Amino acid sequence: MPPPPGSVRSSYLLPACSTEQMPTPPADPDGFQPPPYPYDRLEEMRAVAGAHEGGCVDLSVGTPTDPPTDAVVAALCTSGTERGYPPSIGTATYREAAAAWMHRRVGVDVEASALAACIGTKELVAGLPQWLHLRRPSRDTVLYPAISYPTYEMGAILAGCRAVPVAVDDDFRIDLDDIDPADADRALCLWVNTPGNPAGGIDDLGAAAAWGRAHGVPVFSDECYIEFTWSGPPRSILEHGTDGVVAVHSLSKRSNLAGARAGFYAGDPDLVSYLSEVRKHAGFMVPGPVQAAAVAAWSDDDHVDRQRDAYLARLERMQDLLARWGVAVALPEGGFYLWVPAPDGDAWGFARRLATDAGVLASPGEFYGEAGAGHVRLAMVRPQDQLDLVARRLGLA
Ligand SMILES: Cc1ncc(COP(=O)(O)O)c(C=O)c1O
Repeated sequence: MPPPPGSVRSSYLLPACSTEQMPTPPADPDGFQPPPYPYDRLEEMRAVAGAHEGGCVDLSVGTPTDPPTDAVVAALCTSGTERGYPPSIGTATYREAAAAWMHRRVGVDVEASALAACIGTKELVAGLPQWLHLRRPSRDTVLYPAISYPTYEMGAILAGCRAVPVAVDDDFRIDLDDIDPADADRALCLWVNTPGNPAGGIDDLGAAAAWGRAHGVPVFSDECYIEFTWSGPPRSILEHGTDGVVAVHSLSKRSNLAGARAGFYAGDPDLVSYLSEVRKHAGFMVPGPVQAAAVAAWSDDDHVDRQRDAYLARLERMQDLLARWGVAVALPEGGFYLWVPAPDGDAWGFARRLATDAGVLASPGEFYGEAGAGHVRLAMVRPQDQLDLVARRLGLA
């Protein structure tokens, strides 16, 4: 049974560490109580990993640590756009650069008028259900993959909606047949994520688009790892038309700009227009200097090719280290995470072992849904010299 509106899955509520900050009680006993932020539950293990000489090798959060390009940093510093309000939808240059990137790298043509800026994509993911619910108050359900980025679920909760996970298959692809028709009738949207975080699966985006059209449910396709696709070409839902679908993109991973906050959403003109109008009223704006930097980032692909090589090399290196340590893991089809089955299925125990023996901080899989509870996620965002440390600690150097 899906949780009632506003409830929080149990995995958020079980304290893992004594140092965790517990939320303050709600003003009203029936009111919303923000759960502990998942990564805040890792502080005790961070201390254990940090006790190693050389410190903690933090592979918990998927935050880039490699630098953005000089051209991007220069654009950030010299745009002269600090004084005035930036356009919420994004400057014409911003939207054209993003559309040109889609054309060049993904082979999809999208009108700049059917594309709008967002302040990174987390805020869009978290806020979308409330905007969609305002427009369609008779619907109250958000569908998302059962093993996935936690903000799909949290967005539903923050809007007081029902968060209904959809099963994934053995290859971590969303199983559209698992969706209960009664949930489809109530759905505000379906989220898909290719390549997927945390497991690196590649969905059939044509099937997702067709399902949405058949059921009258908008499909939002989170494609922020698109250029880190290892099996086959990059895929976008917009290859299957724009009717009823929206692709969501970010510069955070592509261009190591998670600190600057820039992304966009594009596709169905009616949905993009509605969302961009609502968001303009609410004051969502990518800062002008960031918009200028984003143009430089979308306009260059060489840095992404270098980053691809770095991520793949790190994934392969860590896979090899784990194998020699007795833990088998497959490489993902995309993305920069290793989704490691925990020996004996005990993810917290395995994460503690990684902290104790390797000085590595990992994310227990329940952060990505109860269906992920038997895995840990390793984000290969740290450079090779940090993996040298891991190899030495495990006696594998
Ligand atoms: C699948 C997915 N979507 C969206 C985001 C949010 O990225 P940002 O808000 O930096 O664009 C992340 C970040 O980890 C992610 O993994």
